[in-house]
Amino acid sequence: NSEKPWGGRFTEPTDAFVERFTASVGFDQRLYHHDITGSIAHATMLAAVGVLTNEERDTILEGLKAVKADIEAGTFQWSVSLEDVHMNIEARLTDRIGVTGKKLHTGRSRNDQVATDIRLYLRDEIDVIAEELKRLQAGLLNLAEREADTIMPGFTHLQTAQPVTFGHHLLAWYEMLVRDGERLQDCRKRVNVMPLGAAALAGTTYPIDRAMTAKLLGFDRASENSLDSVSDRDFAIEFCSFAALLMTHLSRFSEELVLWTCAQFDFIDLPDRFCTGSSIMPQKKNPDVPELVRGKTGRVNGHLISLLTLMKGQPLAYNKDNQEDKEPLFDTVDTVKGCLRAYADMVPAITAKADNMRVAAKRGFSTATDLADYLVKKGMPFRDAHEVVGRSVAFGVEQKRDLSDMTLAELQSFSGIISEDVFDVLTLEGSVQARDHLGGTAPTQVRAAVKRARNALKQG
Ligand code: ARG
Repeated sequence: NSEKPWGGRFTEPTDAFVERFTASVGFDQRLYHHDITGSIAHATMLAAVGVLTNEERDTILEGLKAVKADIEAGTFQWSVSLEDVHMNIEARLTDRIGVTGKKLHTGRSRNDQVATDIRLYLRDEIDVIAEELKRLQAGLLNLAEREADTIMPGFTHLQTAQPVTFGHHLLAWYEMLVRDGERLQDCRKRVNVMPLGAAALAGTTYPIDRAMTAKLLGFDRASENSLDSVSDRDFAIEFCSFAALLMTHLSRFSEELVLWTCAQFDFIDLPDRFCTGSSIMPQKKNPDVPELVRGKTGRVNGHLISLLTLMKGQPLAYNKDNQEDKEPLFDTVDTVKGCLRAYADMVPAITAKADNMRVAAKRGFSTATDLADYLVKKGMPFRDAHEVVGRSVAFGVEQKRDLSDMTLAELQSFSGIISEDVFDVLTLEGSVQARDHLGGTAPTQVRAAVKRARNALKQG
């Protein structure tokens, strides 16, 4: 076990299978950039407090930069027998610069090192995801503005309920994403705390300056408790829970896009470049992107449960179990980024089939509530109005005619207080325009909401 940085107390080599079984280098090498960034800050701090000389520091920093260049050039040989990204990089550093390389790990453990690496990695990915989320939100706002006057049926129980504007419907999706963005930023605050200095679990005997390292790495502060620092993975769970909710929203959105593109709804068109065909049925154009996003929600939800379960039985402080945090977290990051990218590209290219939406909105007595409200405004108690309109709907069902297609005399047979002005409220336009208050579906409200949202998005 002479190659192992920890080989001193061992009397036989590691079993070949155990070596592969315990190694994480196959997946944690993705942390190389952040591992080196963390090491540079650590060495800089060690020199500042006199644990390393300035020459040693410079030799280490140069060596680390050369190792990074090797990795990026693809000439770095990752070794499974060196277990993980941390020991691979440290061993290569020592190969390059000699004995000084062996001083880098002074006052540090892989336990605080890996916790620092993941936080640096996740912080960067959060910032990328936040930008991609904003791109999708901006696309939704543009589409909502374009479709502020387009009328579609609004549903409850997937039964036609009341007419809404398509722009208003899209803004509902926008609001969900606003909350997701807030959750992401809130999670970032707890990600951006530095564990380095906790060492293995108890801290270190060297006169380290944690505030300095934290500053160098852009952390808001150093963590308070060394035991907690090496064992906490809440931040990753929190991120995955943000991701699971975001994916749940994208999945619901996807479900609607799938419904709306089918021949039975035919409300929207997705451009060909976001769809695929069938190898047997020549007529098919399948909404693969929404379907796949809906499907990928399952694996993200699964990763959240993986991490929660990973943590639930762990005693303090670090345990090797924690090595299992990486693959679920990495896959969550990759999946969320992919889904957001696809949606941010696709949403602006959605085209509404306004005529079909309109026909659908007229079906199903969607203005029945408007008729009831009309009667109430003429003095009838709401429950009585509900009953009157219910009877006129029953007549319409029997006659296969909408309320707006009935004659004044027919409507008056249900209530004498109905007069000619009833037809204003029975139109689709009259119905949506009447819901003219904050949060309502009226086109003017949709436009105002888009304006407010754009300002908030710019500031956020
Ligand atoms: N590869 C390990 C992980 O991902 C690094 C920390 C290992 N520490 C240890 N004492 N074995 O968690």
